Amino acid sequence: MPINVAIDGPAGAGKSTIAKAAAKAFGFIYVDTGALYRSIAYYVISHGGDTKNADSVTEMLDEITPELKYIDGVQHVFVNGEDVSDKIRTPEVSMGASAVSAIPAVRSFLFELQRKIARENSVVMDGRDIGTVVLPDADVKIYLTASPEERARRRHAELLEKGNCVTFASVLADVNQRDYNDMHREIAPLKQAEDAVLCDTTDVDLKGAVEMLIGIIKEKTGAEPQNKEF
Ligand code: DC
Repeated sequence: MPINVAIDGPAGAGKSTIAKAAAKAFGFIYVDTGALYRSIAYYVISHGGDTKNADSVTEMLDEITPELKYIDGVQHVFVNGEDVSDKIRTPEVSMGASAVSAIPAVRSFLFELQRKIARENSVVMDGRDIGTVVLPDADVKIYLTASPEERARRRHAELLEKGNCVTFASVLADVNQRDYNDMHREIAPLKQAEDAVLCDTTDVDLKGAVEMLIGIIKEKTGAEPQNKEF
């Protein structure tokens, strides 16, 4: 029986880095579901569509076949056969993904694909509604968060390192706005599942957070980490 680990939490909590490392430790597949929402946004934008127009996005879904493939253990996202893994990481696609993820038809379109991967593989799947909607029977549910100030601090440092000159105040305002959007949308809002373990990484470094996750997965499933390096 595949083991399913669901990880949800707000943007900037370090979910993908931590979830990826935990998946590697157990030899599970890491599934980044945000990439699927991004792939829909990418298709809509590159075909001249408006990601905020629910009717036109819904009509376009018939033309889109998103797929997740694993090449040397790394997730790649394909849309109609094209590898779009890098192209979906732009600020424009991030905004578009946020818009399309609030459209009910998009969520139901991606639902079965996510379920199928989890039925067929042991996974660490990260997103916003994995423990609450996509995998309500997951073996382990984790809600990974950090204070808005700490998430903004990490994001601010990242941006400065990449040469982007932004103020801490504007990054914090963005973090707060995205939290509000994710938590207040009508469909599948971000919230902690009742049976999820809360992991707050505000005062924990990356290594500590990965160890925390591995400990929870081990305790809840009895699985033993196969790789000591992560
Ligand atoms: O995690 P991310 O930044 O790649 O996610 C992109 C967008 O998709 C984000 O605005 C939230 C949305 N999303 C979602 O609604 N449900 C998920 N399971 C994953 C992501």
